[in-house]
Amino acid sequence: MHNMKNVFYLILLSIAVFFFTACSQEPKEYSDREFAELQMRLMVSYAENVMDTSTDARLLVSPRSIRDGKLFMVPSRDWTSGFFPGNLWYMYEWTGDEFWKEKAIKFTDFIEREKTNAGTHDMGFKIYCSFGNGYRLLQDERYKDIMIEAAQTLSTRFNSTIGCIRSWDHNTDKWVFPVIIDNMMNLEFLFWATKATGDSSFYNIAVSHADVTLQNHFREDNSSYHVVDYDPETGEVRNKHTHQGYAHESAWARGQAWGLYGYTMCYRETGKKEYLEQAEKIAAFMLNHPNLDKDLVPYWDYNAPDIPNAPRDVSAATIMSSALMELSEYSSSKSDYYKETARQIAENVKTFYRSEVGSNFGFLLDNSTGHLPGDHEIDVPLIYADYYYLETLKRLGW
Ligand code: GLY
Repeated sequence: MHNMKNVFYLILLSIAVFFFTACSQEPKEYSDREFAELQMRLMVSYAENVMDTSTDARLLVSPRSIRDGKLFMVPSRDWTSGFFPGNLWYMYEWTGDEFWKEKAIKFTDFIEREKTNAGTHDMGFKIYCSFGNGYRLLQDERYKDIMIEAAQTLSTRFNSTIGCIRSWDHNTDKWVFPVIIDNMMNLEFLFWATKATGDSSFYNIAVSHADVTLQNHFREDNSSYHVVDYDPETGEVRNKHTHQGYAHESAWARGQAWGLYGYTMCYRETGKKEYLEQAEKIAAFMLNHPNLDKDLVPYWDYNAPDIPNAPRDVSAATIMSSALMELSEYSSSKSDYYKETARQIAENVKTFYRSEVGSNFGFLLDNSTGHLPGDHEIDVPLIYADYYYLETLKRLGW
């Protein structure tokens, strides 16, 4: 009965979108907000329909991408599971509409079980984007307790000899203690945990991780390696590799964006000038790179051999635009330049990479690349591209 209701609602929504797009005399110009509301409502319906009809035992709770022509949903343990609830919270913040609050609460709750999952460093992505945004908006004490438990779980992955949080447990044939540049993103959650509890150990872990990463992840030109592998007994670096980039010595686009966002955020939380300097150096590397197209949306790797025919990574662009908006608040000499560049990226993303209204299962943006060497998620919508797009719009003042 519930399924029938969802199918009926989907049909109704599709007819409404078709009516608005096809039957109006002039093609309708949607505002950013109208566009986001239409698309996100569509995604909620599709997601609820998958959840009601799926026979998959893994409890699929969060949309991640499109695969084989279908909405690809993931269980809470997937690193991307927090972004969809995060998007719902941003929609609530943007519109004040109770519809989004209700859906955000519902989809956030599915992620709670991750608070004790010590098998991953992605706790920040999962818990801070979902419960973190919810707590910021509702101040719900239950959310706070869940988040503190999750931050304690994440802290168990810290190795004090190395001074870093271990990123992955998989591919033990390739590395011993891998630390990926993406891991910088999970530090924001630890900074929050110290502010929430008064326990400085979370802060100290975050600063140690950022310092050691600053020492070992960056090349002379301020691009970063993807994976640095450490010896947990001595703390020495064993190898510097890539996993999702073109080559060990190449600059994987999303990794550069994670670094920019991570060091900008670390400067906000600590006031340490070396973090701000590193963020500005990363920004210079990206924005002056000869392979960055004039639309400012990176190819999936700055050194991809088939540029200009290589796939783009719109997620790298939206992470970058959100980070540049924040960096513009701290930079003494380039504030206007960063803000204008972020605004330009958002404008270009909207003009050239936005989904058609009513298409792509409600994803806002197309043309991201998740893992090209793994041969999956190439030139497709990805939920985190949408998350950082919404965050960029918020930072631009909606
Ligand atoms: N953190 C995983 C990725 O960026 O693909």
